[in-house]
Amino acid sequence: MTQPWWKTAVIYQVYPRSFQDSNGDGVGDLIGILQRLDYLATLGIDAIWISPFYPSPMVDFGYDVANYTDVDPLFGTLADFDALVDAVHAKGLKLIMDFVPNHTSSVHPWFLEARASRQNPKRDWKDPAPDGGPPNNWLSVFGGSAWEFDPRTEQYYYHAFLSAQPDLNWANPAVRRAMLEAMRFWLDRGVDGFRIDVIYHLAKDPQFRDEPPNPRFEPGMEPYQSLEHIYSADQPHVHDYIAQMRAVIDEKPNRVLIGETYLPFDRLALYYGKAGQPGVHLPFNFHLITTPFTPRAIATLIADYEHSLPPGAWPNWVIGNHDRSRIASRVGIARAKLAGMLLLSLRGTPTHYYGDELGLSDVSIPPAFVQDPWEINVPGLGLGRDPERTPMPWDRSPQAGFTRGLPWLPLNPDWPTRNVAAEDADPNSMLNFYRRMLALRRAEPALQCGSWQLVSVDDAHLAFAREEAGRRLIIALNFESAALGVFAEKLNLGPLILS
Ligand code: NOJ
Repeated sequence: MTQPWWKTAVIYQVYPRSFQDSNGDGVGDLIGILQRLDYLATLGIDAIWISPFYPSPMVDFGYDVANYTDVDPLFGTLADFDALVDAVHAKGLKLIMDFVPNHTSSVHPWFLEARASRQNPKRDWKDPAPDGGPPNNWLSVFGGSAWEFDPRTEQYYYHAFLSAQPDLNWANPAVRRAMLEAMRFWLDRGVDGFRIDVIYHLAKDPQFRDEPPNPRFEPGMEPYQSLEHIYSADQPHVHDYIAQMRAVIDEKPNRVLIGETYLPFDRLALYYGKAGQPGVHLPFNFHLITTPFTPRAIATLIADYEHSLPPGAWPNWVIGNHDRSRIASRVGIARAKLAGMLLLSLRGTPTHYYGDELGLSDVSIPPAFVQDPWEINVPGLGLGRDPERTPMPWDRSPQAGFTRGLPWLPLNPDWPTRNVAAEDADPNSMLNFYRRMLALRRAEPALQCGSWQLVSVDDAHLAFAREEAGRRLIIALNFESAALGVFAEKLNLGPLILS
């Protein structure tokens, strides 16, 4: 049975600033990625998702887009992009782009026009509340009110993220048309799909009602969590907008649409769409990032997720990304390998974060070097994302082979020993484990598309089966340092394939 490629693929996320610098400016770029394609191809992944490289003032490191149809000079040129797509395809890999349709940069020409006058046709701002304050109580994810006042025109504009990231109004058909055209631009250039940034934010409550307080909020939590976001995100009409994106994706064969969705399973399920209104192929499932890393919690999580999936929906799993603490720091280096085995043996498309295959951990960033605007706006709560965005360590040459210049974020201090070249030479390294596990996944249809079944769980172990066409594999995960011992004996295992 042939499956769409994105069902059997392993997706590898590249944060382009930190993967490989080719021109010595300390920031990674597209040519750098191209130079490292052999590494990715031999690692055994199938698709590369690259975080944004559009022209941008980089206030949110590229998630503030100033032009949807070009490449920022920091990352290269459109010609570099074309060369990269060709090279990726020549290696038999796929290329997924990040697309950021919820908001632009505040220097995008559309916003500059909108800002120019109250009468501008591109403007859709709000008058102050009767007391002169913001139109409602909505909060920015990155701290403070989500409304920015413009004293000159005496109106507010809305920004779910930074004030340098004004939201677009997707209720406006001209906005939708323009964004869909931008998607076509890249599809025509050969991209194999998109990861849509904060897709669940696109639609807002048409009445812009106040959001209620979150009864579970406690001091010390991120301020954004003090409200329940029942009107600013995850609105029913978002699915109309997504169906329009999906129609564009379906204009060409074999493309994939992935949505960034931090949502509980019952809400997540809706993003697959329904008959007559298809949604995304893969609404990102981030629950492995937020669930305690214990066998029982994970067993429950898997069962709940499987149960929540609508008929025909294909699952997916993520254990790390550029917004969350790295897996090796969350669960410890010893269990990071276990987490890799889990990710690559669950039912569904795995998305892997660059560097996790080396066991990279978060890097503590001295206050003077903090780059992330979230940490700057809301300091001290551990929200900053610089720690998980540090440069990929390639070898023992200066700056770990990442750059000839000064890296934009410091390297992990363990880089002289934890780097690709060193791990390549060590048969027991995390890297070689990942290579073996990826090769096994590729060789075993049971791992790629087989059924999933819980076999056994206790406080320290989790075992499940994957089965396809009569071949049944047992994945037995030991969350403690002791040997599998009695647990394994009870399972009555067959021959060992990979340990
Ligand atoms: C989600 C992205 O993953 C994050 O990095 C970004 O800051 C926000 N969306 C805003 O675009």
